[in-house]
Amino acid sequence: MKRVFIHTFGCQMNVNDTMRMSEALSSMAYSPTPTADNADLIILNTCSIREKAEDKMLSALGRYRQVKLQRGALIGVGGCVAQQEKNRILERVPYVDFVFGPDAIQKLPEIIQRVEADRVRVVETAWVDSESYVFPTANPNTSRGKATEFITVMKGCDNVCSFCVVPHTRGREVSRPFTEVLKEAASLTTVGVREVTLVGQNVNSYLGGISFAQLLLRTAQVPGIERVRFTTSHPHDLSDELIEAFRIEPKIMSHFHLPVQAGSNDVLKRMRRDYTVVEYLERLAKLRVARPDIAVTTDIIVGFPGESDEDFEKTFQLTEQVRYAGQFSFVYSPRPKTGAAMREAEWGSVPHDVKIARLERLNALQKRISIELNAAFVGQTVEVLVEGSSKTDASRRFGRTGQNTTVNFDGDAPIGALAKVQIGHASASALGGKQVSVESMPAIMVPEAEVAPEVCVA
Ligand code: SAH
Ligand code: SF4
Ligand code: F3S
Repeated sequence: MKRVFIHTFGCQMNVNDTMRMSEALSSMAYSPTPTADNADLIILNTCSIREKAEDKMLSALGRYRQVKLQRGALIGVGGCVAQQEKNRILERVPYVDFVFGPDAIQKLPEIIQRVEADRVRVVETAWVDSESYVFPTANPNTSRGKATEFITVMKGCDNVCSFCVVPHTRGREVSRPFTEVLKEAASLTTVGVREVTLVGQNVNSYLGGISFAQLLLRTAQVPGIERVRFTTSHPHDLSDELIEAFRIEPKIMSHFHLPVQAGSNDVLKRMRRDYTVVEYLERLAKLRVARPDIAVTTDIIVGFPGESDEDFEKTFQLTEQVRYAGQFSFVYSPRPKTGAAMREAEWGSVPHDVKIARLERLNALQKRISIELNAAFVGQTVEVLVEGSSKTDASRRFGRTGQNTTVNFDGDAPIGALAKVQIGHASASALGGKQVSVESMPAIMVPEAEVAPEVCVA
């Protein structure tokens, strides 16, 4: 048996792709190893969303070079950087053996055979056109004993946000037929999964035979599925039908990740996000009527070209007004071939120190809001789906509320149980408490030692 180490960067799409890679390689007798040091094959599943992600990949490649020198390990680069920058990788990193794009995952065994047999460098980054694309079907054993799992429902993105590289790296939107999604949800329940998150770069523009709202409702009806989540969504696709789904189906969890990107209409326009702040707030208000306890999270970019102090103040005020449960805020990073990178000189770059100062202010505000929102749970009893032992203290348990807040607690509920936890402590990022009861046990119990391992994500 040979060993493969896959280092995953970036978003949930890549985490999912890594699992499919690992399954494809098991057909060639490659088993996963948690460290690169004893690997015979090292794959970097890369992300190019911001420059930093690419830098991390390059420094990791530098480290893995030693393993190649010592053990003769093969090194492959997949994912979004591979798709967009194949020539640059091959030129700059002579010890990379193969480069493959997100559409070539199922060809991985064939690519590796070619590298091994012919000792040539192989490049496979062709797109598969929408009509002929077949989504890899997950092997449920890869998810054995996990309480929660991700299901890919679409790939690519048809939007044209001027800062974003994803349409260049993932191509056009292709939705997976709904029957396949439901089948995958059902197969995951046979290994203990009770919560699924439907993932895609833009899930609510799903077109796989039924609407996205219908897909959520149908997934919630799969026997054994207790909780349904999804990520990520574009505000312009937040339809009334989707809002109605939140009103009628309690198995759709009370969390909505709705990236706003900026609180200024001028910036939104240059970003080519086709909504105004008022429209965004109206959608959100309607959602909150349908599901009053919904936790809303967002993504924000600060320092977008031309962002003035007044523009940033509007983003700051929007954060205060919406009272997001959490946000991922980023400093703008120009990406190759994107509209904003090409027009940055015209719109005006924001100096680096100004960007950083804005980011720090926004993060401090969000932290204060998150602490306030989480503090309101102290003294309350919440329901969590138990995912395993706590990452910070192995003697405690870990799970998440319907609103997606992390809870670390004292108790003995097994993975997959729905437990009631009394909250005694709150920070900006997590709640702490003690188990008061176990509401429902998983239908399938897998000993914790046999639970499929997590993939390595940077
Ligand atoms: N499809 C999702 C976004 C996925 S990328 C959506 O439309 O919401 C995740 C986040 O990375 C984006 O929401 C954005 O906030 C951030 N991001 C994307 N491109 C960026 C760039 N060039 N610089 C900084 N942050 C960026
Ligand atoms: Fe990028 Fe916009 Fe598509 Fe999101 S919706 S992946 S930000 S182009
Ligand atoms: Fe990164 Fe590609 Fe995802 S650029 S965020 S890995 S789609």
